[in-house]
Amino acid sequence: MAGAFVRMTDLDLEGKRVLIREDLNAPVKDGRVTSDMRLLAALPTLRSAVEQRARVLVLSHLGRPKEGVFDAAFSLAPVAARLAELLERDVPLVADWLDGVDIAPGDIALGENVRFNPGEKANDSSLAKRMALLCDVFVMDAFATAHRAEASTSGVAALAPVACAGPLLAAELEALAAALENPRRPLVAIIGGAKVSGKLEVLQSLAARVDELILGGGIANTLLAASGVAVGRSLMERDMLKFAADLLAGKFGKAAIPLPTDVIVGPNLEPDARGQLKKVREIGPADMILDIGPETAEHYAERLQRAGTIVWNGPLGVFEHPQFAAGTRRIAAAVAESHAFSIAGGGDTLAAIEQFGVSERISYASTGGGAFLEFLEGKPLPAVEALKARSGAAS
Ligand code: 3PG
Ligand code: MG
Repeated sequence: MAGAFVRMTDLDLEGKRVLIREDLNAPVKDGRVTSDMRLLAALPTLRSAVEQRARVLVLSHLGRPKEGVFDAAFSLAPVAARLAELLERDVPLVADWLDGVDIAPGDIALGENVRFNPGEKANDSSLAKRMALLCDVFVMDAFATAHRAEASTSGVAALAPVACAGPLLAAELEALAAALENPRRPLVAIIGGAKVSGKLEVLQSLAARVDELILGGGIANTLLAASGVAVGRSLMERDMLKFAADLLAGKFGKAAIPLPTDVIVGPNLEPDARGQLKKVREIGPADMILDIGPETAEHYAERLQRAGTIVWNGPLGVFEHPQFAAGTRRIAAAVAESHAFSIAGGGDTLAAIEQFGVSERISYASTGGGAFLEFLEGKPLPAVEALKARSGAAS
């Protein structure tokens, strides 16, 4: 499947105008990038194009600005500055790049936020055409935006003289395919996070494909409630109870879904809220579940030790607060210690594995949040589909 498109590594880029779509949508605070993760992931692609003496114009979005108006809060200026430091070369930020940018062979520039252009999100074809005119080769490398059918992701891929997959996009797709298409079993998915409603489809699809589904956060609370446990004031979605009961009853698939037997509760989400260990049957009406307990964490860890493949999206508790971090920490350690092929994705999950110092021991850290989940759901990624549709035309 990952072979069904032209790859950047198949092409000779020397002297060519190469337009590279990356996802450099990084967190920015006070004019500085606060996590380099997505920039670091893009570096090998950018370096390779520059080393081949291509004329490199990089595109990305940042946040969700209103189209048609410049807003400094969504400028890629901090990203250009950080990219220049990481690449150890000038990376000028080009404000008006749609009419063409003069870039010398072996040089690189960054176009200002693609989402300032009217028509970007709606995948307007005349906007995509203008982007296509800027290049000889379009490189789609933004795995984390591959689930968006936008002008700079899939529109331009359909219209550029040549369109190919960048090394990062190809590597992400290969890692995910290795985990899901022919996995070493047992295949265990860890899905945490606040809301069942946000992960409905992924839970449904994973129930049919994985051997074990380990849940945390508000998602686990809703399943606990559906199993008859009183969860007090815990984050829980009443209108998802039916779905949760169906999931537990095996309506969507045969995955084993162990539930927490003990939890850490607190009175609220304040940073100084005191945590208290309780069995799930002891949860009081004023309690909020803010982490899994040690017995549950050990039980989950044992299952992870036996896993052949692990996919992980979402923390198991409020790990930003030390008193509610132990569950996510134990799971991170178990994933790191296991011999499984492990993939983690999503901003919170990567922040957690970084906080607990296990990043190096996870087999693959995906840059994708929404794209990672959509892949897990088994949905086609529109920007990848656009590349596949071109594969005959370009070879
Ligand atoms: C992300 O961070 O989720 C990606 O960059 C996509 O951004 P979007 O959700 O605003 O399309
Ligand atoms: Mg998103």
